[in-house]
Amino acid sequence: MTDPLPAPPAPRIVGAGPAAIARAAACLRSGGLVAFPTETVYGLGADATDDRAVARVFAAKGRPRFNPLIVHTASGAAAERLAAFDDRAERLADGFWPGPLTLVLTRRPECPVSPLASAGLDTVAVRVPGHPVAQALLARTGIPVAAPSANRSGEVSPTTAAHVRDSLGDRVPMILAGGRCPVGLESTVVDLSGPTMRILRPGAITATAIAAVLGEPVAPPPPVAGTADAPASPGQLASHYAPRAQVRLDARQAEPGEALLTFGPDLRSGPMVLNLSETGDLAEAAANLFAHLRALDAGGPPSIAVVPIPDRGLGVAINDRLRRAAAPR
Ligand code: TXA
Ligand code: MG
Repeated sequence: MTDPLPAPPAPRIVGAGPAAIARAAACLRSGGLVAFPTETVYGLGADATDDRAVARVFAAKGRPRFNPLIVHTASGAAAERLAAFDDRAERLADGFWPGPLTLVLTRRPECPVSPLASAGLDTVAVRVPGHPVAQALLARTGIPVAAPSANRSGEVSPTTAAHVRDSLGDRVPMILAGGRCPVGLESTVVDLSGPTMRILRPGAITATAIAAVLGEPVAPPPPVAGTADAPASPGQLASHYAPRAQVRLDARQAEPGEALLTFGPDLRSGPMVLNLSETGDLAEAAANLFAHLRALDAGGPPSIAVVPIPDRGLGVAINDRLRRAAAPR
C-alpha cells in the first residue's frame, strides 16, 4: 500500500457556486478575508464590525490607515441601521441601489461598524452592490462587509479574479470568481454628510443622473490634486490607480518603445497597442480600462501613451482614473 496523497491545497480562486458562497460567508463571519466580485471591481471583504478583521484588510493592501473603507450591505434597510439617511440619501438609494453608488453619511450613534473602517471619522461610506455574487454573499453573511478594491494600495483596481491573485497573492486566502466586472470602474462616491453634497469620486452613476433624481445641481468632483503627504480628501491621492509604466495622456501617437492605449475607430495594432472600444462606446471603454492598463504594463514599456477620451458621461470617470494614473508619483 502506498501512503495516501496529501490533500491538495484549497484552491484560492473558487467559482462562486452556493457551496463556495457558504464557505466564504463562514470565513467572513470568523474574521477572515474574502475577495469577491461586484459590478464595479473586485472587493477585499472583511466583517466591518470586527476591528481585527478590518485591520487585516489594511495590512493585506498596505493601505494607509487614514483612508476609510466602504461598507457593503445586502439591502438599503441594512445600510440604514448604520448611517443616518436624510431625504436626499433616501432618494439616491431608491434611485440607484443596488448599484455602483456609495453614500458617505453620518454614522448612527449605535453604528456597529469598526471605527477603523471609518478611519476615525464620524461618517461611514455605505453601498448596496448589485452583482449577484456580492448580493448572495452579503445576504448569506448577514453582516456589513467592509471592502476596498482587492488590490495592493496604489495599484489599478482588479476587474477579474486573476487580477486579484496577481496583486494580493497569498495575502487573500479565498477569491470568489465571478467573471469580469461589468462596470469596471469603482463606484461613484457621494458625500452627503456636510452642508453641501459633493461627488468625491466620479463613477458610472454620473453627476447628471444624480442631479436628475434629486432635482438639484450637483457640485462637480474636485480636480485631481494633493500629494501622498497631503491628500486633498481621504483616499483621493492624486497618484492612485497607477501601473508601473508612466502614463502619458492626450497622446496622438506612441513614441518609440511606448505602449499605446487607443479608443474608437483606429487602424493601429500591434503587441503594444490595445483599443478600449473600437466603436467608441464609453461603457465598453470603462469595462476594459483597468484590464488593458494591466495588460500593456505587463509588457514592461517605460510608458503608456493614451489617446484623448471624450469627457462626457462615463468619460468623466475614465479621465479621472487616467489623470490619477498619470499623476507624478
Ligand atoms: O466600487 C467600489 O466602490 C469598490 C467595490 C469593492 O465596492 N470599492 C472601492 O473601495 O473602490 P476603495 O477603498 O478602493 O475606495 C473607497 C473610496 C476611497 O476613495 C475612500 O477614501 C472613500 O471611498 N471613502 C470611504 N469612506 C469614506 C468616508 N467616510 N468619507 C469620505 N470618503 C470615504
Ligand atoms: Mg481602491
